[in-house]
Amino acid sequence: MHRTHRKLLITITAGMFGLISGFAAAAETESAIARGGRLYDKFFKENNTAKPDADHPSYPNKGGKYGKDASWRCKECHGWDYKGKDGAYASGGHATGIKGINGAAGKDPAAIAAIFRDAKHGYSEKQLSAQDAQDLALFVSKGQIDMSKYVADKKAKGNPAKGEVYFNTICAGCHGKDGKKIKDAPPLGSVADNPYEMLHKVLNGQPGESMPALRALDPQIAVDIVSYLSQLPKQ
Ligand code: HEC
Ligand code: HEC
Repeated sequence: MHRTHRKLLITITAGMFGLISGFAAAAETESAIARGGRLYDKFFKENNTAKPDADHPSYPNKGGKYGKDASWRCKECHGWDYKGKDGAYASGGHATGIKGINGAAGKDPAAIAAIFRDAKHGYSEKQLSAQDAQDLALFVSKGQIDMSKYVADKKAKGNPAKGEVYFNTICAGCHGKDGKKIKDAPPLGSVADNPYEMLHKVLNGQPGESMPALRALDPQIAVDIVSYLSQLPKQ
């Protein structure tokens, strides 16, 4: 083979290899981020560990409606919109006065993982393994979206007609076209009024279930689906 051709071939091969391993790395990161998102939602359901039975030490509303195991969920203190006291949990039953995790976006995942073991958080290795902490930290660092871009007046800014097509092809197999097929879950139409929670779950999946995470797709697809959910029957 001509020398320059061989050089070109080597360059192309190396380039392709770089591209493929780049995609493989991205694929691995993306699924770890989604798992981190499910841990953020309800870690003990996702990693199948013991459900906490007393209020989290840093939970301010001791003995309240969202105490005990609920008070250990990251989302309970930091919100479905990741903005804590500056977001949807500014007031109402879930208000804690605690700041969001949005300020930690882009930070070093190792530094974030250390936070889960600090005195304020106190998650043990039994509750969150090193792998769990790593996935969660990746989610906090790289997985947050700015939901205020996609939600206005507590409604998802999507196209419900497109959302219906996505829902009927991606979701209905498990949930039914009416969102009522899973008997131990509430009808999806009845939980659709929290667009932040819906967006988080559609992007990352449901803790401990085989529900898909759509975060590798354009976020607008999730937003369109969430817009459609509110048209499903509420009971
Ligand atoms: C019971 C309430 C509570 C729970 C549950 C909780 N946190 Fe926190 N979190 C806090 C408090 C309080 C702070 C400190 C805020 C401050 O320093 O003013 C904090 C701070 C943070 C920070 C740093 C934010 C910043 O900008 O500095 C991150 C990241 C974080 N938490 C992630 C998590 C994750 C992930 C989980 C779930 C594994 C979690 N937290 C569960 C109360 C909680
Ligand atoms: C492989 C089956 C499967 C697919 C596909 C699936 N889900 Fe789920 N989903 C589940 C299961 C199982 C649960 C947990 C039900 C329960 O709480 O017992 C769930 C829970 C949910 C919840 C939480 C309901 C609650 O408890 O508040 C929402 C919202 C949801 N799914 C929306 C969707 C949407 C939107 C899609 C399509 C993008 C989808 N799901 C696709 C299986 C699936």
